[in-house]
Amino acid sequence: MVRKICCIGAGYVGGPTMAMIALKCPQIEVVVVDISEARIAAWNSDELPIYEPGLNEVVIAARGRNLFFSTDVKKHVAEADVVFVSVNTPTKTTGIGAGKAADLAYWESAARTIAAVSTSNKIIVEKSTVPVRTAEAIEKVLTRNCSNPDVSFHILSNPEFLAEGTAMKDLEFPDRVLIGGRIETEAGRNAVATLKAVYENWVPPERVITANLWSAELSKLAANAFLAQRISSINAMSALCEATGADVSQVAFAIGKDSRIGPKFLNSSVGFGGSCFQKEILNLVYICESLGLQEVADYWRSVVGINDYQKDRFVRRVISGMFNTVRGKKITVLGFAFKKDTGDTRETPAIEVCRGLIADGAKVTVFDPQVKPDQVSYELSCEKFAWDHPKLGPSPGDPMQHVTCAEEVYAACAESHALCVITEWDMFKTLDYQKVYDSMVKPAFIFDGRNILDHEHLRSIGFIVYCIGKPVDPFLLSTMS
Ligand code: NAD
Ligand code: UGA
Repeated sequence: MVRKICCIGAGYVGGPTMAMIALKCPQIEVVVVDISEARIAAWNSDELPIYEPGLNEVVIAARGRNLFFSTDVKKHVAEADVVFVSVNTPTKTTGIGAGKAADLAYWESAARTIAAVSTSNKIIVEKSTVPVRTAEAIEKVLTRNCSNPDVSFHILSNPEFLAEGTAMKDLEFPDRVLIGGRIETEAGRNAVATLKAVYENWVPPERVITANLWSAELSKLAANAFLAQRISSINAMSALCEATGADVSQVAFAIGKDSRIGPKFLNSSVGFGGSCFQKEILNLVYICESLGLQEVADYWRSVVGINDYQKDRFVRRVISGMFNTVRGKKITVLGFAFKKDTGDTRETPAIEVCRGLIADGAKVTVFDPQVKPDQVSYELSCEKFAWDHPKLGPSPGDPMQHVTCAEEVYAACAESHALCVITEWDMFKTLDYQKVYDSMVKPAFIFDGRNILDHEHLRSIGFIVYCIGKPVDPFLLSTMS
């Protein structure tokens, strides 16, 4: 029976996942540990370090009862029966595989800590997304570094499928929980059964599925690759729709009615963002290349290629639509987070859009209800890999010289030449667009990168409207390249 769980990594996955386990398993003590003192302090405060609908309520219900946040990594790892590892696994920035391979340094360091402090048997759960066969490497680090020969470690892969913005719902009602282990051995099967029993405190047993370690690890990369591939497929169609007069929403609706295709994840957009899709596809590409599967690698690489193309295409549409220059024009970017209902800006398409507009001389104003100015500044100033912005190039000088962050949406829009909707926040659907129009420079443009606005209503007010994958306005047809 599990008495104590420790999770290393108090991030977007570790925090919410452990909060849900603590809520649903009051008999288990759950401690989330992290090397970042600031993050742990925030988890222990009234202002949690991440914004996620429903998270506050769950943390408040369990914190101090059987949910704890601590920087004392060694103590809580040593005491736990089950240790989840949910540290970041970013893309390598230097050395072999830079720009593609996963950087497992954080994972390895966590494994070394576990080995150093363990005096009792433990189940180690890979929660982070890792390359296939990482468990094998981690097993070696654990067994070769533990000084107590009587201690045994059982490694399980339990990848997380939550999406930000809907994390709490995804955790409470998961489509499936996947547990991979060494199911060919009795000890492996026992470890799987132990973790399965934890989830079955609230997840129906038929939704907790098991697999061998390598299948579980690869399934996570495969799931993200398939999801991203759907978005790139519909985004590729959106370019074709604009060129032919077809409407991508109608195409998505029609193909989504086919039960083999299904309606979800077919929203054409300015491009997918987030910390994982691009990272994991590039990781997959690297693995395939390492195994000599160049054609497979090229296939998956093209999913990222179309995403770069879509972001680039959007910026070009904005610039060419506005008489081929945005120099000196105020352009308001509505939304900076990579999707609605999160403050996360990792790999958000807003970065490329802002950089592209700044590079052409625009004065950019950003409004996002959950993103703070220092986060915008951080993202726009960060060094990016060459593959990340292959065509637009870096912005000249300090990008924040050309960017203002607004606290109020109507003030953000006032005196703008154009609005670019980059995040699909619900509040953008219900703005008083007559009021917005009256405050803008004419002709007033809206570039809807999410297709969330009522385009006919906007046109009736007088806006020139561009929407992804839809017949192009006659006004824009004459100006756009
Ligand atoms: P994150 O960067 O938000 O959090 C990771 C945390 O781990 C950080 O707070 C960091 O300080 C901590 N950490 C790193 N090394 C440590 C160590 N040795 N000891 C203690 N703490 C350490 O990352 P995240 O978004 O939570 O993602 C974690 C993993 O889960 C990644 O592999 C990611 O690919 C995967 N994942 C993320 C999501 C998502 O929606 N963000 C969803 C599914 C899977
Ligand atoms: C994604 C997966 O959905 C999760 O299952 C997975 O656990 C997670 O990655 C991960 O491994 O990190 P997330 O990135 O949080 O979750 O959010 P998504 O809802 O998948 O959206 C990703 C990006 O695709 C966003 O920029 C979103 O706006 C975009 N998107 C999504 C579209 O452009 N069109 C769509 O139809 C759907």
